[in-house]
Amino acid sequence: MTGSVPAIRTICCIGAGYVGGPTMAVIADRCPGVQVTVVDLNAERIAAWNDADLSRLPVYEPGLDAVVGRCRGRNLFFSTEVEAGIAAADMVFLSVNTPTKTKGLGAGQASDLRWVEASARSVAAHAQGHTIVVEKSTLPVRTAATVQAILQAAQGEAECKTFSVLSNPEFLAEGTAVPDLEQPDRVLIGGDDPQAIEALASVYAHWVPEDRILRTNLWSSELSKLTANAFLAQRISSINSIAAFCESTGADVREVARAIGTDSRIGPKFLQAGPGFGGSCFQKDILNLVYLCGHYGLHEVAAYWQSVVDLNAWQQHRIARLVVNNLFGTVTGKRLAVLGFAFKADTNDTRDAPAIRICRDLLEEGADLAIYDPKVAPEQIARDLGMAPSASSSGLTGEGRWQLAGSVHDAVCSADAVLILTEWQAFRQLSWPELAPQMRQPAWVFDARAVVDPEQVRAAGLRLWRVGDGNIG
Ligand code: UDX
Ligand code: ADP
Repeated sequence: MTGSVPAIRTICCIGAGYVGGPTMAVIADRCPGVQVTVVDLNAERIAAWNDADLSRLPVYEPGLDAVVGRCRGRNLFFSTEVEAGIAAADMVFLSVNTPTKTKGLGAGQASDLRWVEASARSVAAHAQGHTIVVEKSTLPVRTAATVQAILQAAQGEAECKTFSVLSNPEFLAEGTAVPDLEQPDRVLIGGDDPQAIEALASVYAHWVPEDRILRTNLWSSELSKLTANAFLAQRISSINSIAAFCESTGADVREVARAIGTDSRIGPKFLQAGPGFGGSCFQKDILNLVYLCGHYGLHEVAAYWQSVVDLNAWQQHRIARLVVNNLFGTVTGKRLAVLGFAFKADTNDTRDAPAIRICRDLLEEGADLAIYDPKVAPEQIARDLGMAPSASSSGLTGEGRWQLAGSVHDAVCSADAVLILTEWQAFRQLSWPELAPQMRQPAWVFDARAVVDPEQVRAAGLRLWRVGDGNIG
């Protein structure tokens, strides 16, 4: 396409998920002159986006209800009519799921692109006139080539159809999606059609300062998303490796983090030691990077990034192991209170949560887990642990079991140990003098998020392990 920058009046987003929903809501809010339709094959999800009760939107994000409330029905629409949405659009965002493949070539590492391909084929079939297609899902480098090939085939069949493909990755984090979208550090647009790039830039220019809109080629943009997540995850593995070293040497990882974080070249963020990273992106994106590096014969590079994921898993196994070791080498039949199951605070998301691996290890050792999380549903925990809850104790049979606790007090009652695995605010304010007498002595607190006050825990007569703290034991 040559000539002037096309004006964008109608946008269609395929995929009303975690990324598509909030992103389109903010675009509609900031661009009242653009009609935005989010389409999805999942009728239940669309119905939830259209629910009159804004507290029942399918994605919980602080501030999202207000944004959706302002523009839904005005210039923001949620619909199952995928074909009509595509046909009416000047610009189509692909925001479908791209999970790690579970079988076949690249299983466990590569992204499963079946939904991207299917949505690209829908665009090819139903688009009219010139359509700018924007990859929003996190995709392996060079996926745009697949999308382009599918669209070009349609272009060849129908003279009146033309397409430009852009990559525009999303960097929002869960829990801060709305502020991340409203005040992004940067917006990245990759492509090889300058007019299409400027058309998308003009959408963001409604609220994003020009110097924060970066333009690159397609492949740089796709790779930047994987690289950003790989670098963030690498910092967490780095600080967790140092946390283990601190525990062996009498250093405190928080002091080390503060000391290195004041170096402006390093910076203070993402230096919080803990039970390892979870969430839907970090592990998935690094494994994808590892797979792609292997594909291109860069085996040393693949091994380097693989070590970030391996260190993360090691940290989780290490925590489970040290719980067992400190409880006289056995947790069989012992009640352990697990506080927090979500992958981070302020979300009910458990995808790749550190709690999953740690709990599974302890169940394997025959533990009796009482799990409390303020937001995660018991069905989700059962799915994640691959085991239904059980009310009756398995005693010393060696069979691990878990049950849901309705409160911190319920979980802790008669427990030999408390494990804190998510940094919920409420866990920072626990009253240890009240909790300690309810536990079976000698009792332990294993604080994988460093949220407790060590003095208070010890004054209550409890033994304490705190991640990265070599001064206690
Ligand atoms: C991340 C990226 O931040 C975001 O840019 C990208 O678009 C999606 O992936 P998210 O998964 O929502 O966002 O969570 P994030 O806040 O980055 O935390 C990821 C994991 O790292 C959590 O398990 C968190 O507890 C852990 N973490 C984070 C640490 O252990 N230490 C830290 O210092 C920071
Ligand atoms: P993300 O976290 O990347 O937003 P989600 O899994 O939350 O991913 O959402 C992706 C959405 O995309 C799902 O609701 C799914 O139903 C939808 N989807 C996948 N493929 C298609 C398709 N071909 N057409 C319409 N919707 C699709």
